[in-house]
Amino acid sequence: SMLSDVFRSHPIHIPLSNLPDFTSLRHLPDSYTWTPKDDLLFSAASASDQSLPSINLDDPHLATRVGHACATWGAFQVTNHGVPSRLLDDIEFLTGSLFRLPVHRKLKAARSENGVSGYGVARIASFFNKQMWSEGFTVIGSPLDDFRKLWPNHHVKYCEIIKEYEEHMQKLAAKLMWLALGSLGVEEKDIKWAWPSSDFQGAQAAIQLNHYPICPEPDRAMGLAAHTDSTLLTILYQNDTAGLQVFRDDVGWVTVPPVPGSLVVNVGDLLHILTNGIFPSVLHRARVNHVRSRFSMAYLWGPPSDLMISPLPQLVDPLQSPLYPSLTWKQYLATKATHFNQSLSFIRNYD
Ligand code: SIN
Ligand code: FE2
Repeated sequence: SMLSDVFRSHPIHIPLSNLPDFTSLRHLPDSYTWTPKDDLLFSAASASDQSLPSINLDDPHLATRVGHACATWGAFQVTNHGVPSRLLDDIEFLTGSLFRLPVHRKLKAARSENGVSGYGVARIASFFNKQMWSEGFTVIGSPLDDFRKLWPNHHVKYCEIIKEYEEHMQKLAAKLMWLALGSLGVEEKDIKWAWPSSDFQGAQAAIQLNHYPICPEPDRAMGLAAHTDSTLLTILYQNDTAGLQVFRDDVGWVTVPPVPGSLVVNVGDLLHILTNGIFPSVLHRARVNHVRSRFSMAYLWGPPSDLMISPLPQLVDPLQSPLYPSLTWKQYLATKATHFNQSLSFIRNYD
């Protein structure tokens, strides 16, 4: 598919043989032990007196709240989003059993060397010297073929609920996108030149399932290292175990506690570019713990492959030039593959 093509420009070089059987490790191997040398923000301050805004989709001041959260945090939690709790319970149960399969079974759905979907390490692994305490499945389109091989009893049901979840996510992403853009005064007619369909038809999406096993030395380990998402928006379901943290320059790391039935929304790099920098793409990471395993499910949502994303003209000061050039998702990922967390500032100085 087109989306595989987008992700292929961001290859993963870590061999799967590096994926250990986490459950058998009693000590943290050196290759999994992080210090500030491996990630400048590894031990940056944490703030417990701040929390990510939580927004109820029935709020009478909805657009204002979404706009404010996007402009200050680049993220928020959302409740009353219309995804049935029955569906979230099914996902919770089946994703848990998927990850509990023994490693040799999961490896039957291993991502191929240059592949994009299937089982493997985090997509960002190649940008760090140390390994992360996590494993994942990337789902693009139907995971039926990948899952049939390893999970004969549950894969049909799982594919059905993933499909149902994706349908909800598609609608929610479009709704949130309009709220975020609407808060800046952007109307349908303002983006028609770029994206003729008002419900963002042709948007591309992937689902990333992340699992963070119980860890013997969580303070020295990293579940998923600090990164921004390369999407327009990401919608994240996390189970009942804390681990997600978001970073703000003026605050430090802030834990996003799991709130039953709520979803976390992240502004991605492409929405940052589209808003000419008004909305920051949020830096976030996942920590691990020694008591409970954790999983999360990210819906990564972005533009059609041939759509050029550039700052919306009405968000650019007429006396100044736009902060970012026009580029497609694929072109942006190519920059990210060479500049990782500096990719936005790199393209910002494009001329
Ligand atoms: C992600 O950034 O994709 C996942 C973060 C998390 O597991 O909470
Ligand atoms: Fe992320």
